[in-house]
Amino acid sequence: MESPIHSIGVLTGGGDAPGLNAVIRAVVKTAKNEYGWEVLGIEDGFEGLIHPGKIHPLDQEDVRGILPRGGTILGTTNRGDPFRYEVEVDGKIETYDLSNDVVHKAKVLGIDALIVIGGDGSLRIAMELVKKGLKVVGVPKTIDNDIQETDITFGFDTAVNTATDAIDRLHTTAESHDRTIILELMGRDAGWIALRSGIAGGADVILIPEIPYRLDEIIRKIEVRNARGATFSIIVVAEGAYPEGGQPLYQMNRTVGGVHRLGGIGEVLAEELRTRTNNDIRVTVLGHLQRGGTPSAYDRQLATRFGSMAVHLAAQGKFGHMVALHGEKIEAVPIADAITSQKFVPLDSDEILTAQSLYISLGNTRQAIEKLREERS
Ligand code: F6P
Repeated sequence: MESPIHSIGVLTGGGDAPGLNAVIRAVVKTAKNEYGWEVLGIEDGFEGLIHPGKIHPLDQEDVRGILPRGGTILGTTNRGDPFRYEVEVDGKIETYDLSNDVVHKAKVLGIDALIVIGGDGSLRIAMELVKKGLKVVGVPKTIDNDIQETDITFGFDTAVNTATDAIDRLHTTAESHDRTIILELMGRDAGWIALRSGIAGGADVILIPEIPYRLDEIIRKIEVRNARGATFSIIVVAEGAYPEGGQPLYQMNRTVGGVHRLGGIGEVLAEELRTRTNNDIRVTVLGHLQRGGTPSAYDRQLATRFGSMAVHLAAQGKFGHMVALHGEKIEAVPIADAITSQKFVPLDSDEILTAQSLYISLGNTRQAIEKLREERS
């Protein structure tokens, strides 16, 4: 039988996403109201379990008013993996395994269970800590929506709304100036944000990493529009998109926590189009605007349900599991299953079919997309 819980810790790891504060608030309220547990807020992800002075009690008053606030009151970082902790010694980076210290510190502090709110990186660390005896429940978060085993992650809806608003705004200026405007969006190696906001915003071309594009197809689409009297076009490109036979584009010298940062495909595409068309082309990179600000109503409620259920899972002893949305229900799934691979846009999804039926160019022919789908099935 599991030993009873008196105190739980909660931390937010990896890049922030709108809705993190809603999860923290729900964790605190559920832990206090339903179980009478103490909650310890751990600052800056796993760093808080490495450095002193970064852990403090969280009471109901501490989470008052944070539901609509973006960011995270606990702070977060892409660094601080305790299994591969990097320290600069004499100008050189040395890597240490501090995982045993983290497990020991949690024990000393009386943390009976830990709620880790994070993306695939944080969930991977959480799983490794579970193997070392820490009792962890996960809450999946990312604007990219690329975590397996959950239909949606919180933060995604807000990012899609922000991106759609940007597309709406770009439409009016593109039309006034007869321009082609390229909007580069986040999403890492998955095209969820680009595809969903592209459809919602009525983009003419949507380029996602799941479908390597052909320049000819994009140009064909612009020319067809021009011939029909639509002298402006909106191209939405996911940061991870790349041409057939090419590679995703990474930013120079931008590696954070061992992860390379994507970026720049919008400008590259613009240059290529400038050499092949007479269109006046501009590029907007939406960047971190997709991560900041007030979470949408959808994200607040999903984050609240996730946070509350994570506490219930801890009470049920469901460690090594994370909360997940399946249809209308929040359920528990093994973290190990969620981190096996990223969740990509399936090429037979109705979103892809809808885009094709609306003659939105996905950067490649139907035959090529069908071939990709067959190869991947
Ligand atoms: O995973 C969320 C995300 O915003 C990605 O879409 C993007 O590639 C990356 O994080 C940016 O990371 P950073 O905040 O370190 O620049």
